[in-house]
Amino acid sequence: MTDRVIPIADARRTKPLPSEGELGSSARAGEDTLGRRLHDLRISVTDRCNFRCIYCMPRDVFGPDYAFLPKSELLSFEEIARLARVFKGHGVEKIRLTGGEPLLRRNLERLIEMLADIPGLDLTLTTNGSVLSKKARALKAAGLNRVTVSLDSLDEAVFRRMNDADFPVSEVLTGIDAAAAAGLAPIKINMVVKRGANEDSVIPMARYFKGSGHIVRFIEYMDVGATNGWRMDDVLPSAEIVRMIGEKMPLETVEPNYTGEVAERWRYRDGSGEIGVISSVTQAFCRTCTRARLSTEGMLYTCLFAMAGYDLRGLLRGGSSDQETSDAIARIWQARTDRYSEIRTAETAKLRKIEMSYIGG
Ligand code: GTP
Ligand code: 5AD
Ligand code: SF4
Ligand code: SF4
Repeated sequence: MTDRVIPIADARRTKPLPSEGELGSSARAGEDTLGRRLHDLRISVTDRCNFRCIYCMPRDVFGPDYAFLPKSELLSFEEIARLARVFKGHGVEKIRLTGGEPLLRRNLERLIEMLADIPGLDLTLTTNGSVLSKKARALKAAGLNRVTVSLDSLDEAVFRRMNDADFPVSEVLTGIDAAAAAGLAPIKINMVVKRGANEDSVIPMARYFKGSGHIVRFIEYMDVGATNGWRMDDVLPSAEIVRMIGEKMPLETVEPNYTGEVAERWRYRDGSGEIGVISSVTQAFCRTCTRARLSTEGMLYTCLFAMAGYDLRGLLRGGSSDQETSDAIARIWQARTDRYSEIRTAETAKLRKIEMSYIGG
């Protein structure tokens, strides 16, 4: 243990639910205080992971003594599906399962079947790809629409240093192929870029996937959580990444798929596909942020950089009806003021924020 360790129970603070009558109508979430609607729900299904990525779960903090959530604390699949239906009623159209590593949650296919029963949802998942080759077909059969796979380098030594679990590149590539064969497309590949760690892998990554039909997204390293020792100097700005790639393989911009899309889209001028950049640090996108996050134990967070969440599990297990839960969610959303990335400073980066592996990306 080092002095960077945050006692996690301390970091998981609970905010009281906004009371009835404090705000306007609570029937539907509508807009938050900055005029943003609720469109995406990211659900973390486990806080565990078989990787120890240096920017997410540094091994000196998430070591053998780290206290992960016990099973009794996790939302059950029934509880998750029930909440998902309530969120759908507030306009949620996309659900993304995250973790930790979501494919480590036992029988995840069963949860996917339950969520796929809710009509009109784009159902997707972000994975490290480590067990994807085994699971891709079953995930598709259960009703998953597509996957996003994290992969930080094609260079064996660099990738192993980034995942700090001695995991080989080839297994992730096999997982991506299996997902493509199963029809979990379009596949997106997420590469977190940390200056001095994997920046030399940017061009080879772009080149390898150019023409494959998969979309690589380069993500600026963020100050999520309180344990990754983030420094602004470690961020390679997206503008720099676009310049680097564009010099070798000319690019042009593409219109967003929808308002509030996280990635900025670029395509190769020769028609061989597209890439994306996610610039949470150098070009905050809070103004159009339509995302809510449900943690593994059923806390609702209205920002990736939250310091506290709302205890929805407490409501469910306390016997609240779907209508009461729905009203509570509406009030939470209407009270939302978050815009962390717009107000980030070196000081805010040191705050005791919730860990990425717990809140789910
Ligand atoms: P699609 O556009 O549906 O493919 O997904 P996505 O880009 O929203 O999801 P993904 O899980 O692939 O996330 C990509 C990166 O963007 C990750 O590093 C996320 O942590 C980051 N990200 C996603 N949503 C937000 C957000 O609301 N705020 C910030 N700051 N980062 C986000
Ligand atoms: N900064 C940027 N992206 C991160 N991810 C995890 N930690 C960080 C961080 N500190 C990425 C993962 C995954 C996605 C959900 O978030 O690599 O692709
Ligand atoms: Fe695991 Fe993903 Fe975090 Fe890496 S980024 S440690 S794969 S949860
Ligand atoms: Fe949304 Fe918070 Fe990310 Fe801003 S920092 S885009 S409010 S999750």
